Formats: sequence, C-alpha cells, structure tokens
Amino acid sequence: MVTDLSQTPLPRLIQGGMGIAISSWRLARAVASRGHLGVVSGTAIDRVVACRLQEGDADGSIREAAEAFPDQSLATRVLQRWFKPDGLKNPGSYKPVPMFSISPPKALLELATFSSFCEVWLAKQKAKGPIGINLLEKIQAPTLPILYGALLAGVDTVLMGAGIPRDIPGLMDQLCQHETCSLRLTVEDGPAADIPFDPSVVEADLPALNRPQFLAIISSHVLAMSLARSGGVDGFIVEGPIAGGHNAGPRGWKYESHQDPVYGPKDQVDLDRVKSLGLPFWLAGGKDDPDSLAQAQELGAVGIQVGTAFAFCSDSGMNDSIRRRAIAYAIAGEVETRTEGRGSPTGYPFKTLDLPGTEGGRDPAIRQRQACAHGYLRTAYQKEDGQVGWRCAAEPEADYVRKGGDPADCEGRRCLCNGLLATAGYPHAMRLGGGLELPLITSGMIRDLPRFLNGKDDYNANDIIDHLCSQTTTTPNLLHTAV
Ligand SMILES: Cc1cc2nc3c(=O)[nH]c(=O)nc-3n(C[C@H](O)[C@H](O)[C@H](O)COP(=O)(O)O)c2cc1C
Repeated sequence: MVTDLSQTPLPRLIQGGMGIAISSWRLARAVASRGHLGVVSGTAIDRVVACRLQEGDADGSIREAAEAFPDQSLATRVLQRWFKPDGLKNPGSYKPVPMFSISPPKALLELATFSSFCEVWLAKQKAKGPIGINLLEKIQAPTLPILYGALLAGVDTVLMGAGIPRDIPGLMDQLCQHETCSLRLTVEDGPAADIPFDPSVVEADLPALNRPQFLAIISSHVLAMSLARSGGVDGFIVEGPIAGGHNAGPRGWKYESHQDPVYGPKDQVDLDRVKSLGLPFWLAGGKDDPDSLAQAQELGAVGIQVGTAFAFCSDSGMNDSIRRRAIAYAIAGEVETRTEGRGSPTGYPFKTLDLPGTEGGRDPAIRQRQACAHGYLRTAYQKEDGQVGWRCAAEPEADYVRKGGDPADCEGRRCLCNGLLATAGYPHAMRLGGGLELPLITSGMIRDLPRFLNGKDDYNANDIIDHLCSQTTTTPNLLHTAV
C-alpha cells in the first residue's frame, strides 16, 4: 500500500534524523512547530529512554508520554524497571539494557516499543508540521518494536537509510494492521534468518493505524530505481557524500582497501533518472545556504534535508558542553570533519569530527578495546553449530576472532554505540580502565556553522529555518503542493 501523496502536502524542509538522540523529540518538535518535517532518531532509543529514566526523568516528559501509552500495564512495568527518582548513584553507572537478538526478552521488546512511542508522542505535542522517525536498515534486530512504537504514536513519516530497505514498506503495512510479522536478518556465512515480532506485546484493543509515508535515503539512482520497482516507497532523500553521519562508499571503494574514501564525478546521482521515477525527492548534504532550497527545487526536488546545522543548535539532543565547544572550535576554524573509511563497524564510511577531547580527536587505535554493552552494530553470523551468533568489528579482537571474524576487519574500528551515546549526554562507565566513555561526534561541514550565529554565541532551530527559508519562492512543486 503506497500512501496517496497527491492528497498530502509535502514539506520543503526536512530536519534529518540524527542518531543517537541528536535529533531528539525537542528538536523535531521545534522544527515541526514551524510547519516543517521534524524527525526523531529511532536508533538505540530504548537505551536512551532507559538512561533518561535512570537519571530521574527530570522534566517528567517520559512519565507524561507514558500516560498516553495504549497499554498502561506495560508502561508501568517499564517505569518500575528503569525509573530512578533519585537518579544515578555515580556518573555513568547505568544498569545495562539487554542486547537485541533473534528472540529478545519480552522486557526489551516492551522497552523498545514504549521508548519510540514516547519519543514520537513528545515530538508531536504542539507540532504544526509532521513528525518522522529515522532508522538505519543495517541495524536490523531492534527495527520492528521501534517501528511499532512509533506507529502507535501516529508517526507521519518513516525514513530509512544505510542499506536497502526493500522489506520495510510491507512490514509497515503489517504493523499498521497489528499483524505478527518477521524481518529478514542478514547472517554472515549462512542463510538469512527471521526475526519475528508480535504486536500483541502491547495488550490493547486498537483500530488499524494510518500508514505513514516511507522515504528511502539513497545515494545512487540505481538504488532509487530498484526500490521504486519493489514498490511501497513514497519518495527519496538523495544524500550526497558531504552529509554528516554514515555515507555510501564511492564507486569501486571497499573498506578492506584501508583507504579513506575519495569521491568523484562518478558518484554523482543522476537526478533526471530519479525524477523520471515520478516520486518526490529531497536533496541532502551541505544544503544549508539560503539559496539551497530554490536550487534543489530547480533540479526537480521538493526540497532539502539538513542535518549538521541542526545537530549543533540549542534544540539538539547533543550534550550542551560538547556542543558549545564544537561551535567554539568551528568559529576558530580549528576543527575538521574526516570521512573515515574504517571507523564504523557497519563498513560504511563515517564522518568524524576531530574535536580534541573526543574519540574522533585521536587515533582509533588508542582506545582500549573493550566489550560494548549495547551491541547495536553487531552483525549476525552463523556459528559452527548452525546457531546465529553476534560479533562486532569494534569489540576486542580476540573475541571477534574467536567468533570466526577476520582480525583484519578490526583495524581502525571505533565503538560507535558508546561514543554516540556519550555525545548525547549518556556516557557509560568504561568496563576496563575506569572513567567514562569519550564522546564521538559525527558531523558534516561544521566550518559553515558561524553563519547561523549572526553575531550571537548560540543559535536555535528557528535561526536555521529563518536562514534556510529567507529566499524561498512559494511556487508549488510540479507534483505536489509543498508546505
Ligand atoms: C550528528 C549526525 C547524526 C546523523 N545520524 C543519522 C542517522 O542516524 N540516520 C540517518 O539516516 N542519517 C543520519 N545523519 C544524516 C542526516 O540525517 C542528514 O541527511 C545529513 O546530515 C544532511 O547533510 P548535512 O549534514 O550536510 O546537512 C546524521 C547527521 C549528523 C550530522
């Protein structure tokens, strides 16, 4: 079932989904309150909400959202498990959340469903515009409960990149009908496996839900054409290589090459081919000039998706002192973004900011490798006994090799789970060596940030929107009327 977009006004500006918890409900709400598409990140949202609850839920927002959750017994169980009115005893001493697997414990399914519900529900309060949720295709095990929670909260748009999200539209259709469904899990060295999800984890008598729009994030027209043929995709975010976060590798590049990626003309997306598919699309990656929107529309796009500018604004979920330090370094021109070929265990290039005092400000080999308590970027592999095991190229090399992994995979890998959680203000105590995990910042072209400051020392989502929309024409898109 494809949403009938001719009836739906399309946003010209999308605030990109940014994990972990950088595009939090507050940022998405600020953007949507101006009528644009605000997007929360669904990545590791179970862990983020568990952290917020353990810190005492100071603003009461999660407990407020919990009251709207359709299954009050489930909401009570989650609060009983994770809410600590007095906060953490020691910095970083969070209780571990179990990792996802093929058959995760019921308590984890409950937490994941509840958490994405709360994040979307909070973003939607007082929002004039639509709210979306962003997920990464590469992270498969938590997808269905997180998606289901977002659907229960009435999410308007689902955006997914970092992979080929061919099965997601069909799964969304099933989840909207509260049907049990299964996600195909990629298993290295073995056949794919199924991860089932039964929506009756939420015990409530619910009507069928509205199917949100589904936007696939792509960096090649070939992938756009293939996804359009598969059906169920309502539009595309066409993301270029200077965008923050993960990027698609350049043509012919392999992470095994041990080279940082270099992009050339062959990596340019043929927008005429994308346009010929007849689906709306938005351009992303360095589209934060006052004329970016008009230029994108001239090329046939409905509008633009912007990330980096929003990541460092005061409405972002980034820890405030890290954010302000990054801005200060950007003003001084003393910070750079590097596209690391081997940093992310996903195998995709990853933009890393070299801010001193963060993981990206030093050689990846320096961090003492240690087991990660989150395991979001583990890949599934087939064990000798035929069972599915899990390994991550950023875990201690001996563990990875014991699980049949190639030691060459481990070189240069960073623990993104811990680094990104720390950037959002949830640094976990290190298992070895004491201290807290260091933040790791991903970012696009940060040197351009001073333009949003306008002589001030900080800026918010409104400043960005005013800047981006200052030269906008009101000409409607040929296919649709953009708001
Ligand atoms: C801090 C940060 C985190 C990001 N995380 C994600 C993510 O989790 N999923 C995703 O699809 N894109 C992610 N992105 C990409 C953005 O959604 C957006 O497409 C991109 O930032 C646009 O390019 P720009 O950074 O030049 O504005 C991230 C970007 C940043 C800056």
